[in-house]
Amino acid sequence: MIQVRDLGLDYPSGSERVQALTGIDLDIAPGECVVLLGPSGSGKTSLLNLLGGLERPSRGTLRVGGLDLVGASDLELARYRNQRVGFVFQSFHLDGRRSALENVILPLCFGQASLARGRERARALLQRVGLGELCHRSVQRLSGGQRQRVAVARALICQPELLLADEPVGHLDDATAESVTELLIELHREQGLTMVATAHDDRLMGHAGRVLELSAGRLMADRIAEAPSRHAS
Ligand SMILES: Nc1ncnc2c1ncn2[C@@H]1O[C@H](COP(=O)(O)OP(=O)(O)OP(=O)(O)O)[C@@H](O)[C@H]1O
Ligand SMILES: [Mg+2]
Repeated sequence: MIQVRDLGLDYPSGSERVQALTGIDLDIAPGECVVLLGPSGSGKTSLLNLLGGLERPSRGTLRVGGLDLVGASDLELARYRNQRVGFVFQSFHLDGRRSALENVILPLCFGQASLARGRERARALLQRVGLGELCHRSVQRLSGGQRQRVAVARALICQPELLLADEPVGHLDDATAESVTELLIELHREQGLTMVATAHDDRLMGHAGRVLELSAGRLMADRIAEAPSRHAS
């Protein structure tokens, strides 16, 4: 599904360049769930942005589901982002003036899908994430956990192969974070998509089974995650 070789990303910083990622080699199989860990500034968001086609690499090769993201044209990359990838961000990135339903439908306006069918699917997804009753409410009048559920539904509207989640529960209180994490785990199980998430959560790591650790832009460890203990020690 994902094949990364000697991948690097630089950002301009004044007259210098910051190496956000260096020499990343990585393979992720279809349907896998992978958790990305690492200190602040280690390159987690940068790697997700590359995988999702939001940035182009400075060096190396990057293929996702047969598409070469380095050689792809701008149009191919835009199509890839819109139709094959779902994003969930820490701060939701929803349009506060629109209803939950309108936010979930929005990505379809950029694609070719039928809007009538899309509306049905958006309703079904909002139902699935527990917001069936609130689908017409403006996002501004939803709680943080509810907003993130809308964002998860929106990420899935185009039936992506790849779900990328960047600190999806970072702005939520513990109980709400747990329920959104649980939702992501269930959806990953149900939909058979490939998922890459940054989150320090034992349950998510236990579910993922695989943890990647970044440090200063390098991949330092690629290990099997331990399942969370069922018994408090
Ligand atoms: N738009 C940008 N312009 C310049 N430098 C950037 C930009 N975005 C990130 N960087 C730099 O790239 C490096 C990696 O940043 P990145 O955001 O990927 O880290 P992160 O692991 O996601 O951190 P956090 O846990 O704080 O979200 C850092 O040194 C950061 O300062
Ligand atoms: Mg980040």
